[in-house]
Amino acid sequence: MKFWQKAFLATLGAFIVSINGCLYLTSRYSFSLNVQQETNRVLGEYRVIATGIDQTLLGIDSRPSAVPTASVISSAMSSLADYYAKQDVYLALQQSHTVLFSNVPAAARPGLRIKTVPPAKDALTIQRRGGTHYLYIVGSIHGLHGPYTFTYVTNLAALYHSYARLTHYLILVSAVTETLLALALLAILGRLTRPIRLMLRATRKIAAGVYDERIRIAGRDEFHDLAANFNRMALAVQEKIAALDNAVHEKQRLIDNLAHELKTPLTTIKGHAQYLQSAHGQEQNRIKAAGYILSATDRMQDLVYKILDVALVRNSKLDFKEIRPAELLREVEALTATTLHEKHITLDVRCLLENPLIGDATLLQSLLINLIDNGAKSSPDHSVITLSAYVDGFPTLEVRDSGCGMAEEQLSLIWEPFYRVDPARSRRSGGVGLGLSLCREIARLHQANLEIQSQLGQGTTVRLVFTTPLQPHENSVTSALYDGGVSHINP
Ligand SMILES: Nc1ncnc2c1ncn2[C@@H]1O[C@H](COP(=O)(O)OP(=O)(O)OP(=O)(O)O)[C@@H](O)[C@H]1O
Ligand SMILES: [Mg+2]
Repeated sequence: MKFWQKAFLATLGAFIVSINGCLYLTSRYSFSLNVQQETNRVLGEYRVIATGIDQTLLGIDSRPSAVPTASVISSAMSSLADYYAKQDVYLALQQSHTVLFSNVPAAARPGLRIKTVPPAKDALTIQRRGGTHYLYIVGSIHGLHGPYTFTYVTNLAALYHSYARLTHYLILVSAVTETLLALALLAILGRLTRPIRLMLRATRKIAAGVYDERIRIAGRDEFHDLAANFNRMALAVQEKIAALDNAVHEKQRLIDNLAHELKTPLTTIKGHAQYLQSAHGQEQNRIKAAGYILSATDRMQDLVYKILDVALVRNSKLDFKEIRPAELLREVEALTATTLHEKHITLDVRCLLENPLIGDATLLQSLLINLIDNGAKSSPDHSVITLSAYVDGFPTLEVRDSGCGMAEEQLSLIWEPFYRVDPARSRRSGGVGLGLSLCREIARLHQANLEIQSQLGQGTTVRLVFTTPLQPHENSVTSALYDGGVSHINP
């Protein structure tokens, strides 16, 4: 059973019980007041009649003609009884067992409890006889020749009839009220439970994959707060799902790219290996083929090492220590010397950063070597690459070259694994397109920003800016300055 149905039945049930209970109690109370009023009136009338009969009996009893006969008493009573019979009041008089007079209708007679001894005080009862209610008052009248039992009977049909009419009227009122109440309750519950229906519909849609579904509920009640929380939750789910989708997509692209990267060297290896197997080639060509196989395996090895580097950096335990910037630059200079020497490129090292940096020396070395390697690959022979460390608001490490540079639209793509501006040229220079991905990961681990500025034909500048409190206080400035002024291209 649905919530609104339960609420409807429970509320309607409670209303029906309370309304009918109130109506019943009110009608009963009103009826008992009417009966009380009627009883008081009837008692008054009874006393008047009893006094009249008492006087009449005294008059008869005081006659000298001994004990009065029943016919004498009956004739004395009949004019009085006839008068009251018109008002539905009936009288009976008896002495001991003998009924001296009675005009009580046969239907009411079974209600007469004729006592042999007159009651000590007036006894009043209401009894239902033959479908009609009668009120009986039995009392005693003291005559000179012994006590008389006087019975007064009146018909209460009018009283009970009006009570029955009142009851019918109240039942009708109750039925109409309850029908109207049920309709009003349905309308109110329909309106009150609308937010629940909206939420149900929204959850059903979200469960079916429509993650941008939101609920709009006006007002300031709990449902409004619930809807606001629900919308926040839906937004979080939507973002999480989008991030997961993105991650899956990125992973798939990585696998596709990796497969593509492996295809070329594998084809080379297979082709030249088949040539070597044929054993018909000249010695010179066989040596050439072996050379191709070697360079293809070198490329595959390079690829595997780079992938391993990225994976290792991602999962590595960081060894954060104080690093002297001058020392870091010197080590990088030594490690890149051979490569740069081959291209007759000069590395101009400038260290203007006195205070130590906090970081993993090996990872920072790797980052700078990759950046210098990129600079060297894009620069002509006999050019200069500048490696510097300085403070510009934040401690910064910078690699600047005056090589081929890149167009604006390429700058957002170069962080993606395997992306190369010119794949053919990069492949020739041994690049697999993972260097900047590795640099981005290292920057992230140091909570630093990696920024790149480049202009086609002008050269490229890459900066690693240590913006976080990870660094010693004197090296950094307040975050307010950072938030207000410096803009970064986040990797
Ligand atoms: N200093 C630079 N000047 C010009 N182009 C650059 C520079 N640095 C990077 N690029 C471009 O960005 C691409 C991606 O660089 P990345 O370092 O990720 O890969 P790679 O150098 O090709 O290969 P790898 O570093 O894995 O050996 C490069 O192929 C190159 O086209
Ligand atoms: Mg590179």
